Amino acid sequence: MSVVLITGCSSGFGLESALAFARRDHTTYATMRDLAKADTLVDRAAAENLDIELLALDVDDATSVTSAIGVVQARHGAIDILVNNAGIDCFGSVETTDLERARAVMETNFWGPVRTIQAALPAMRAKGGAVIINVSSVSGSMPGTPYSSWYSASKHALNALSEALFIELDGIDVRVACVDPGFFKTEMVRNSRARGKALRSDPYEADQAWLVDFFEKSVEALGGDPVDVAEAIVRAADDPEAPVHNLVGQSASTLVDLARQAGSVEAWLPLAVSLVEARSPVPARGDEPIRLHHRSPDPTETAPPGPPMAVGLHWAVDRSDDHRVNHWFGARAGLVLTGRPTRRTR
Ligand SMILES: NC(=O)c1ccc[n+]([C@@H]2O[C@H](COP(=O)([O-])OP(=O)(O)OC[C@H]3O[C@@H](n4cnc5c(N)ncnc54)[C@H](OP(=O)(O)O)[C@@H]3O)[C@@H](O)[C@H]2O)c1
Repeated sequence: MSVVLITGCSSGFGLESALAFARRDHTTYATMRDLAKADTLVDRAAAENLDIELLALDVDDATSVTSAIGVVQARHGAIDILVNNAGIDCFGSVETTDLERARAVMETNFWGPVRTIQAALPAMRAKGGAVIINVSSVSGSMPGTPYSSWYSASKHALNALSEALFIELDGIDVRVACVDPGFFKTEMVRNSRARGKALRSDPYEADQAWLVDFFEKSVEALGGDPVDVAEAIVRAADDPEAPVHNLVGQSASTLVDLARQAGSVEAWLPLAVSLVEARSPVPARGDEPIRLHHRSPDPTETAPPGPPMAVGLHWAVDRSDDHRVNHWFGARAGLVLTGRPTRRTR
């Protein structure tokens, strides 16, 4: 059995992963920055008669990281499976977000995993047979998301770090794999809304409020079960052939495929607008030409012969399990690709 350490286990994927590893009889260290938030995990573990060790670990704090990892290493020599799961978002525009709030996202999502990896890897490397799982996001493989740019940047950075580490560890008996979820029902969006606060009077307020509402309601209406992500984390840890990137969730591969097929931010923008429209559980914002309102979907439209890329898009969309998006894109992929992104002046 392996020794597992997971960060950010007070809720969401971290909590579910701790239970998933413990169910498989791994020696599981569930860490969180505030142990007062352990009640749900403790109750659920007790209900299943699972053994889970709790440790305080704040990934923003170097001393907290080295002391928690030091405890595990003192008991077991090395961590076998390190899961870097802790993460935050902070909604806000690039222009108006307070820099400290923006920096906090990089601190937790990027520098947090750097701290745990630097603390744990020497012993993992010496022992061998170890794996580092970085919980990234589809955001790390797509163009930046408006009003969530710090989050996008942090996940792109985490992906680049993981890919570089994968190459550095070539020939060394330690693997690295990212688990990249799409939309899932956790506390993430609610926590991020609470964190976002503009620096001054905000000209982006209406667009941002709409997008945050869209995210919140999309998670409620369409978000996947976090248990699926926990199972994907366990699979990536168990499978010696797991690739560096492991997408999880219905929308994840569609989004990443579409972004790759689009090939540029300019081509992605109308697709993103269309996707938002096709899935939106919140009303569009009337006639105002907002960036997120392109035009109403018309499922009777047929696609005219499009540029070669449209073929790829049809292929990508056909692979999706989401029939509403399939149908809609099937009708529109050629059209949206030939359209120009809506621009608006403030
Ligand atoms: N939910 C999604 O749709 C989604 C999609 C793609 C990727 N992800 C990624 O999945 C990971 C887990 O998020 P989640 O969706 O499960 O959200 P969540 O329910 O909000 O859980 C986030 C966890 O991270 C912890 N955390 C935050 N800052 C920390 C710090 N400085 N030190 C230690 N722990 C800290 C939180 O602890 P507190 O309770 O103390 O705040 C919480 O336990 C994140 O990396 C996120 O970016 C989520």
